[in-house]
Amino acid sequence: MELKDAIEGRRSIRGYKPDPVSRDLLEEIIALANRAPSSMNTQPWHFHVITGDVLDQVRKGNSEKMLAGEPPRREIEAHRAYEGIHRERQVEIAKQLFAAMGIEREDKARRQDWVMRGFRQFDAPVSVVVTYDRPLLEHGPVAIFDAGAATYGLVLAAWDRGLGAVINGQGIMQSPVVREAAKIPEDEIILTCVALGWPDEEFEANAVRSTRRDVGETASFLGFDD
Ligand SMILES: Cc1cc2nc3c(=O)[nH]c(=O)nc-3n(C[C@H](O)[C@H](O)[C@H](O)COP(=O)(O)O)c2cc1C
Repeated sequence: MELKDAIEGRRSIRGYKPDPVSRDLLEEIIALANRAPSSMNTQPWHFHVITGDVLDQVRKGNSEKMLAGEPPRREIEAHRAYEGIHRERQVEIAKQLFAAMGIEREDKARRQDWVMRGFRQFDAPVSVVVTYDRPLLEHGPVAIFDAGAATYGLVLAAWDRGLGAVINGQGIMQSPVVREAAKIPEDEIILTCVALGWPDEEFEANAVRSTRRDVGETASFLGFDD
């Protein structure tokens, strides 16, 4: 696949076939993700790839605690609710997803069900828990930037091979559960996870194409002739 086609075509996948993903293929994708640039080539990221019983344990613990109303326990600073234009964009994608799934605004049960799907990592056969080296915490957000670059590489490499993925902050909301089940070493900080698997083409939300600002809005150019 052309890089342009992978970038253009990729979208978050939130419905998966139950078919397993081979370890060889996952290793191939991670090898590509590892080619991401990083500050002074520090390569601070780790990918903990979980499936089967381990992933089921994470899904169960995360979902049960969220359903019981326990406050989220993430290891990166919790963000407050988005406001202004960022909130508008958040609402826009939520509306697109709910429209695709036929979930009405008043349908609290199905909306709740959708949120729970996120806590279950959309029932994907694989989850990649992304962490970074704790000693870099005191160096500010650069290591998080680096891990983000590697994570995007992972998602694109997966897409290139016909796999779908969604970066999924909901999946690590109860990070102590993830830490225990996935045996995350103490010297790493959990950032997020990526749900991954073969896309279910019948799942309506998988067709949703989120909007983007155009170049005129995201970039400014100075010192050019025209
Ligand atoms: C850091 C991060 C966390 C995310 N967490 C979630 C999540 O918890 N649940 C979810 O459904 N999507 C999540 N997403 C996916 C975004 O909603 C999605 O990337 C965005 O709406 C743009 O859509 P696209 O990926 O289809 O282009 C997350 C994405 C990122 C980068």
